[in-house]
Amino acid sequence: MAAYRLAIAFAIAQVGLAQNGPTTVLKYKEWNSIGCQGDSTSARALKHLVAVASPNVTVESCLDSCAAGGYILGGVEFGDECYCGNALLYAYGASQACDKLCSGNASEFCGGPKALNLYQFADTPFTTGPASLVFEYKRWQWWGCMDELFPLGPRLLPHGPLAPIPGEQMTVERCLDGCEAAGYNAAGLEAGQECYCDFVEKGGPGAQPLGWESTNNFECADPCLANATEICGGLVPHSSATTEGRLTAYLTCDYFDRC
Ligand SMILES: *[C@@H]1O[C@H](CO)[C@@H](O)[C@H](O)[C@H]1NC(C)=O
Ligand SMILES: *[C@@H]1O[C@H](CO)[C@@H](O)[C@H](O)[C@H]1NC(C)=O
Ligand SMILES: *[C@@H]1O[C@H](CO)[C@@H](O)[C@H](O)[C@H]1NC(C)=O
Repeated sequence: MAAYRLAIAFAIAQVGLAQNGPTTVLKYKEWNSIGCQGDSTSARALKHLVAVASPNVTVESCLDSCAAGGYILGGVEFGDECYCGNALLYAYGASQACDKLCSGNASEFCGGPKALNLYQFADTPFTTGPASLVFEYKRWQWWGCMDELFPLGPRLLPHGPLAPIPGEQMTVERCLDGCEAAGYNAAGLEAGQECYCDFVEKGGPGAQPLGWESTNNFECADPCLANATEICGGLVPHSSATTEGRLTAYLTCDYFDRC
């Protein structure tokens, strides 16, 4: 009888443990879990940083922040970090390392080392890297990867699209449409999230616009923040403290007298 009671007490304790142990939040408001995804500290899968080394991160607080910013992806990492984004910029694949408790609630998991508990808002489609070049779009033709002159000089392409495009919404199509709507024949995307336009004339070497300098194509490799399958320029280290932009540059058929 005593052994029987002990067994029952043990079974109840087991159930109790299972109920009180930490859980992976699978659903919260309109957000759904899409698993544990690998990440990298040098090239983050989600671009927008909300919190790092924060004592109050929970899945709910992180996703509320991402929803308030209008993002379609949110993720918690390393127990105390929160990120949002509109594309999964790099595809690191599924991870098994989401085993850290949330700094703001030890009853739930908040990712792990180089691992995101990732959530998607209202089943909204999103893109995943790797990024590649868009060579042609409507009247636009890819030209090359150009050196940005700023901040040592004026911007290579000093103008902007007709309506400003928030960095988090950047795609190649939006930038080219925006520059075309403003009447320009040259456009460039930079650092994954910037769009510049200009009116240029021939005169450089190899029919290149005057003043443009091509650089190695591999320096333009940043995914666009709103479409991770497209390249939107780059950002390369210049010295230990500064960076220099690279532009994925486009010209219209007008420039080539080919319309
Ligand atoms: C944590 O608390 C701070 C200060 O109250 C707040 O600004 C921040 O948004 C919170 N972080 C999260 C992830 O909720
Ligand atoms: C902590 O997380 C658990 C599991 O998600 C949840 O049931 C509970 O309400 C949370 N506590 C607080 C204070 O948010
Ligand atoms: C993302 O880019 C690819 C390649 O340019 C394009 O085919 C696709 O329609 C784009 N998707 C979104 C959601 O912008």
